[in-house]
Amino acid sequence: MCNARPLYLHKKVTCPIHASILYIPSSSSSTSTSTKPNPLSTLKFLSSNRTTDPILSFFRKIPMATANGHSPPASRWSLHGMTALVTGGTRGIGSATVEELAGLGAKVHTCSRNEPELNECLQQWKAKGFSVSGSVCDVSSASEREKLVHEVASLYNGALNILVNNVGTNVRKPTTEYSTEEYLRLMSVNLESSYHLCQLAHPLLKQSGAGSVVFVSSVGGVLHIGSGSIYGLSKGAINQLTKNLACEWAKDNIRTNCVAPWYTRTSLVEHFWVLQLLEKKDFLQQIVARTPLQRIGEPNEVSSLVGFLCMPAASYITGQVISVDGGMTVNGFNPPINLD
Ligand SMILES: NC(=O)c1ccc[n+]([C@@H]2O[C@H](COP(=O)([O-])OP(=O)(O)OC[C@H]3O[C@@H](n4cnc5c(N)ncnc54)[C@H](OP(=O)(O)O)[C@@H]3O)[C@@H](O)[C@H]2O)c1
Repeated sequence: MCNARPLYLHKKVTCPIHASILYIPSSSSSTSTSTKPNPLSTLKFLSSNRTTDPILSFFRKIPMATANGHSPPASRWSLHGMTALVTGGTRGIGSATVEELAGLGAKVHTCSRNEPELNECLQQWKAKGFSVSGSVCDVSSASEREKLVHEVASLYNGALNILVNNVGTNVRKPTTEYSTEEYLRLMSVNLESSYHLCQLAHPLLKQSGAGSVVFVSSVGGVLHIGSGSIYGLSKGAINQLTKNLACEWAKDNIRTNCVAPWYTRTSLVEHFWVLQLLEKKDFLQQIVARTPLQRIGEPNEVSSLVGFLCMPAASYITGQVISVDGGMTVNGFNPPINLD
């Protein structure tokens, strides 16, 4: 609609909704002979910022999910002044995410189960000039989750801009071989912990005025990748939770998105490589062959998307599950013929 140029219109204004150019009648130079009300005169009101009509005002209000209201352009690409909680921040994608968010200006709190490793990481981040704190916490324990969020609430005066639910684990087996204990443990670490942390953090995210939740799921929640059915279903549930919360919490100005990595070079898959390389040497080659970009991912190639999704620049993105996979999930059939 904004690109149309009716014959009787002359004066140029910017459409407030699509930011393209409109032509509206000029009071002094209109050549229109029509006596009908001009539908685009509405837009003249909108662009003039003078209307008090609540419905017309609605079209003018384009809220920006920023830490402190409207921001100048540079701060749309920054997390300066924001607070974040990243679970499982001492290794892999979690560690890269802590550094990404802190490097973009956020104050970050993280957690893991291994105290010496956590303290070592905290020292390294301090040396790099990042503002990062940490707690020892096993996110599969409800009471430890409550303690963690309580600590975050006191640290950040009851307001949290960013929650990254990163922790996840896996045990690969045929479905018929999983025990009930394995089912419960994987579902607890991969799904229940994130669900409960969202519930606990909701008042803090709402209080911030511009909250953002990012889940770290997996392409295994979208496709069968031979990583075991419990991993697949727990990650698939996270993908759906992303969509539910995006709709449910939009009224609180909380956005919810999800990143879904393919094989990424971290400690989670390291031991798996060694085993596979010893027992089945072509496994890595098969992964690379299935991946259009012809390699596995690096943790900071996942954390860069997490960082973007938390920025004011991503203020209209919510409910999305985005694969970080070198193109693997769009590679349907790879025939052994060269089309070049
Ligand atoms: N790497 C991949 O190829 C890949 C692919 C798809 C999706 N993902 C997903 O990406 C996320 C991160 O994986 P990653 O590969 O970075 O894992 P990782 O290298 O094993 O790192 C996991 C981090 O989480 C912490 N952690 C593990 N269990 C925890 C618990 N119960 N409570 C608190 N902290 C815990 C670990 O520290 P402690 O052990 O000291 O607690 C560590 O800091 C997971 O959700 C995973 O499913 C990974």
